[in-house]
Amino acid sequence: MDSSQKAYLKEKIRGMPGLPTLSPNVMVILGYLREKEVNYNKVLGAINRDQVLVAEILKLINSGFYGLTQEITTVDHAVNLLGVNKLKELLFSTSIMEVIAKKDEILWLHSYSTFCLMEDFIRTNPALNVVGTLPLTMLMHDIGQVVLEKHNAKLHRAAFDISCDQRIPIHVAEHDLMGVDHAETGAWLMEFWDMTDETIIPIAYHHAHSHKVPTAYVREAALVQLADYIDCNCRDIPALSPSKELLDAAGILEYDMDFWQARQSHLIKALDSSNPAFKLKDSAAKMHQFSIENLIKENVGTFKIKEFDFEVERYKS
Ligand SMILES: [Fe+2]
Ligand SMILES: [Fe+2]
Repeated sequence: MDSSQKAYLKEKIRGMPGLPTLSPNVMVILGYLREKEVNYNKVLGAINRDQVLVAEILKLINSGFYGLTQEITTVDHAVNLLGVNKLKELLFSTSIMEVIAKKDEILWLHSYSTFCLMEDFIRTNPALNVVGTLPLTMLMHDIGQVVLEKHNAKLHRAAFDISCDQRIPIHVAEHDLMGVDHAETGAWLMEFWDMTDETIIPIAYHHAHSHKVPTAYVREAALVQLADYIDCNCRDIPALSPSKELLDAAGILEYDMDFWQARQSHLIKALDSSNPAFKLKDSAAKMHQFSIENLIKENVGTFKIKEFDFEVERYKS
């Protein structure tokens, strides 16, 4: 597919009925949260004016998704406890959890367990120095599969079958069959949702080689690829590991693959042992109970990182 065909497809997808959307109010709130000095009164005012959103936030925050022990009864309390990045996650989670889960259970489980893995990468290795929204990006990294399915369910199903039968990564099968892959359509959706480059770029390049990845977010893109690869490996989903060239470009010299792989296998097993009648929020709660602290108490997976001034690159871009 050449660039003009892609531009045509992008516009077609933008106007497609059934495209996952964020409500206008959520878009407004996200705009407030992007301001340099976040005005919490404005944020809370906008949330509290939307009673459906209030109910969803309180339901989700008390469901176990955030592993909180006390019951939260007001949005003000939720916002105080969570801070800006977590509030963004919560807003997106309310909007996209059902979207992803409706497509298929495995896609949701993979999205959620990679989100947990990315949180642990960052929490245990602050030297990674990546943008705070990266776990949220991880949660959404494959949302382009939902877009492709809405665009042409039959073809996307065929791409999925080819991926399973021939053991090739889904993005390769999508590209062969549909001329575009879910990394691209996911990034388009993020653009339609008015997201910034820190989300769009890692999603757009989560299956790309290093020579293509913009330097400003190359570390984020490499970590999304790595978390995706580890999780897919544990789930026996065909995937490509990030290339050495990409990891070098991201300044990731070494990482403890054995540890992360073992950690993810434990987490996935815990998830799979949850209620067979799949309940989205029950599973999320269960996964929190089986977090890394409970499973592997003494070991921490490490990364060896090369100094790199991403801020300068981001400013330039
Ligand atoms: Fe993907
Ligand atoms: Fe993925």
